[in-house]
Amino acid sequence: MNSKYKVIVSGDYTSDQVKAFDRDFDATIIQQLESIVDIKPSIREQVEAVAFKGHKPLEFDIKKFDMVPNLKVISNFGVGYDAVDINEATRRGVKVSNTPDVLNDDVADLAIGMLIAFSRKFLVGADWIRSGNWMRSGEMPLNRKISGCRAGILGLGRIGREIANRLVAFKMDIHYHSRRQKRTPDNWTFHEDPISLAKSVDFLFIALVGGEETRKLVSASVIDALGSNGILINISRGSTVDEQALIEALQKGSLSGAALDVFCGEPNIDPRFLNLENVLLQPHQGSGTIETRASMSKLQRDNLLKFFSNQSLLTPVN
Ligand code: 8YV
Repeated sequence: MNSKYKVIVSGDYTSDQVKAFDRDFDATIIQQLESIVDIKPSIREQVEAVAFKGHKPLEFDIKKFDMVPNLKVISNFGVGYDAVDINEATRRGVKVSNTPDVLNDDVADLAIGMLIAFSRKFLVGADWIRSGNWMRSGEMPLNRKISGCRAGILGLGRIGREIANRLVAFKMDIHYHSRRQKRTPDNWTFHEDPISLAKSVDFLFIALVGGEETRKLVSASVIDALGSNGILINISRGSTVDEQALIEALQKGSLSGAALDVFCGEPNIDPRFLNLENVLLQPHQGSGTIETRASMSKLQRDNLLKFFSNQSLLTPVN
């Protein structure tokens, strides 16, 4: 029955995910949203649903909406939907859904893992063995303790909260800034602004939503406030950080280090990051486990199935 419903599937999906789309829908698959123009107008004009995966800011813009004039729903793969012009969607009566919650644990795990890998120099340690340095020179250089330090979370949403919960197990003192003060354990400290937060902590985790409202919220002043002993960990969106200021601070040593899973313009990242010693770089793999990507994919399809059976979306955005 559902095989009747035409869906444009845009993005880089695994073969299992593609099979599932083909099973549930009459799917027209494109790797990049830009290629929507190559789909025959007779198909585009009938399509009511797009399954979308991507995180270039506002990639799904007015021009793309114009390509699918009868669009009714966009089911986004990912919790972050800053690649979709939500105002335009709402204006046209297009519903948008995302895939929240199912990825919280993985993204929080990666954030903690990156802090430990960076502070305890896992990459240097692995190379110490491979290069023969251990045999030749003995112990690797000492590194930095993380347990018992002060941690800041910028954005105490679902993922930020999972990061904080994990940090409690590392005996850290928890500080945060969010749009609103949240109900938290009594000993977590709320800060009215990101600068005050950065001043008060050793490690600053960025767990903000993307989009215009958070663009460069981590400004030169925030980075400066984190200081030469501070470490920045970003698992949210590159756009939340003033990357120019970040790179300059890392070059000068006015910031101790950064562990980054997300970048402006990714995967085409600023090449200056590659020349820095005091960074740990990851290719936006926060939600990238087999299990979580399967759950995200199922939720993306289930939102479409709800739409086609005239029921409310499971995880609506607008
Ligand atoms: C991506 C993410 O969706 O959920 C998000 O907002 O950024 C990720 O989970 C994933 O990398 C696929 O592009």
